[in-house]
This record gives sequence, C-alpha cells and structure tokens, in this order.
Amino acid sequence: NLYVVLMAGGVGVRFWPYSRNSKPKQFLDVLGTGRTLLQSTIDRFLPICPVENIYVVTHEEHTALVKEQLPQLGSHQILSEPMRKNTAACIAYASYKIAQQNSEAVIVVTPSDHLILREEEFQEVIRKAADQAKSQDKLITLGISPTRPETGYGYIQYHTEKSFAKKVKTFTEKPELSLAKKFLESGDFVWNSGIFIWGVQAILQAFHLYLPEMAEVFDEQVKARLNTNDEREAILSAYSQCKSVSIDYGIMEKAQNVFVCLGNFNWSDLGSWGSIHEISSKDENNNAISANAITYESRNCIVKGSPDKLIVVQGLNGYLVGEFGNVVIVCEKDREDQFRRFVNDVKARP
Ligand code: GDD
Ligand code: MG
Repeated sequence: NLYVVLMAGGVGVRFWPYSRNSKPKQFLDVLGTGRTLLQSTIDRFLPICPVENIYVVTHEEHTALVKEQLPQLGSHQILSEPMRKNTAACIAYASYKIAQQNSEAVIVVTPSDHLILREEEFQEVIRKAADQAKSQDKLITLGISPTRPETGYGYIQYHTEKSFAKKVKTFTEKPELSLAKKFLESGDFVWNSGIFIWGVQAILQAFHLYLPEMAEVFDEQVKARLNTNDEREAILSAYSQCKSVSIDYGIMEKAQNVFVCLGNFNWSDLGSWGSIHEISSKDENNNAISANAITYESRNCIVKGSPDKLIVVQGLNGYLVGEFGNVVIVCEKDREDQFRRFVNDVKARP
C-alpha cells in the first residue's frame, strides 16, 4: 500500500546561475555523484516502494526532463502542473490521483532536492512511520535535530513520549530569526525535514478541514475527470482557482493530528552554497573545488566550473567563484539573501 510522491516543481533561485529556470536544482548532479538529486531521491525509495507506485509532480515545462532522468516511470506517473501553486496544490493533485487507485494508500511525500547520507536508516524510519500512518488518522513528518537558527525551515515542538510517532504541540513554519534562536536554545524543537508520511484519507480530510476551497475545487472539478482525456483541462482549471500556499502553512501549522518521527539519517536540504561547501570534499585550505582550477592564498571558497576552462583564484576568503554556461559569478558564498536579487536584476536587463 506504500506510494511515494516526489515534489519536483521548485525553481532553485538560491543556486542561480548554476540552477536555471530551464534546469532547477533537483535536475542537477549537485554533488558530482553521477546522479541528479531527483535520481538520487528515487534511488533511495526503490528498495522500499514498488516503482509503479512512485509519482513525480512537476511543472509541465519539466515533464520531458523528468522522463529523461527517470526512464523507469510510465508517463501516467509524471503529473504535470500548468502553473506553480506551491506544495499544497501539488500534494492535492497527487493525493486525489492516488486515492482513485487505492483508498487505503499510505503516501510518502518528499522533496526531490535533498541529500540523505545514511540511506538504510532512512528507509527504516520510513518503514516504521508508514506503519503508523496505516491507521489513516495521522499526519506524520520526519524531524531533524537542529544545529543552527535557520529561518528557512519549519520548527516542531512535540510531546516527549516514548512512542516512535510523537504528538506535535506546535508547528511553526519559517520563524523570524529571534524566534528561531529561542527555539534552538530551548532544546525542545526539531526541524521539519519536509518529508511527510500519511494515509491518503488523512491528508484528504486535512484538505477538507484546512483548505476547504481547494478540496472543493478538486472534489467538484477534478475527481471525476482524473485518468480521462479531460484530466489536463480539469487540472488547468482547478489550478487557476487554487491559492498558492505551501503544505506547511496551509495544513501542517493548523492540523491537530500531526505527529513527528525523529530521524538520524544525516540529512541536508542542500539549501545554500554554504551547505554544499559543508558536505563537499575540501583541500587543505578548506576550498571545495570542482573545476579546472589553481588557487593561491584562498580559503573557504567554492570553485566550480567546466573542465575546459582554467580558473585562477587568488586572495579570496569565503567566495563562490563559478562558471556556469554563459555566466561567471564571483560573490560571497554565504550571502544567501543576494541570489534572489541577482536573478531579478538579470531578468530585468534588456
Ligand atoms: N510540484 C511542485 N510544485 N513542487 C514544488 C512546488 C510546486 O509548486 N513548490 C515547491 N516544490 C518542491 C520543491 O522542488 C522542493 O522539492 C519541495 O517541493 C519543497 O519546496 P521548497 O520550496 O524547497 O520548500 P522550503 O525548503 O522552503 O521549505 C520546506 O522544506 C524545509 C526543509 O527543507 C518546508 O517543508 C519546511 O518546513 C522544511 O523545514
Ligand atoms: Mg527546500
């Protein structure tokens, strides 16, 4: 009864110009392993989920790319979104689709751009969480011990109980820095990994309770037309009526039946150049170099580029020096806030 939904519709702004609209982060081999992040994500589920139960939801401009990277999936397993409405709509689409096939399905919903180093531990946690979710009344998320006051994550406070799935007291998506610091210092919170496990009935019920307009649109306009020639049209019309909201704000912050399972499987959401630097192998000066490069008096840098160009770097500390297609970028690698600005300014150029 296990199903997996890979969410692969993000744009990856923080990795511009490496990640582009035409090829966002999940479609790149960010770690140089020979597999893209999307491919690595499916790889870690194949040992625990039949391939025919795996779905990918992506923007329609990337459907072909998904097919190319995941040739093992049938066309009907790739759900195309006509517009970006964030993760709630994406999850609604996949849930209605799976519910039609199997009303007792247990679904793992996962981002497609994360790194998990200890795959066996991960699979074990998923197995146990899926077992808990069978009762079709819990919304389960995997929690990660926090190490810094990151403001891009959800924070979860839970009842300390021995059971594997612990009842959640509060779920706070993307807190302000001051609040994130308090959460971290209190020692009472874990990060939301963004990996969810629930019975299809539990999540459909949550949509009806917390995003009733969205549920209504899907009930009335989509349900009967799924798996017919009309599906695309139905989804287009439904998406144009859905609000853009993440599952975290739309459901997880509000629901009363949220549980967290703690995982220790060496997770990183690869959310920034800093996190890529952290996990990459480094030279004696702490530089992560994946390019044809020579460095002098430089430390804590990322140097990334194609093998046919030589990059020479001198006197830089903490910089990203990258050559990606038609763009060369040199900037402080930890100024994550800057990337959205770069993208907007580049778009605005004639
Ligand atoms: N299909 C589809 N459609 N996928 C989407 C869309 C969409 O409109 N928007 C985002 N995604 C995909 C992204 O590609 C990513 O794999 C996943 O959904 C999560 O979206 P993000 O945009 O990366 O979310 P986030 O990182 O800001 O926050 C989430 O993840 C954190 C952990 O990394 C939240 O769940 C946080 O609570 C969590 O801490
Ligand atoms: Mg993310």
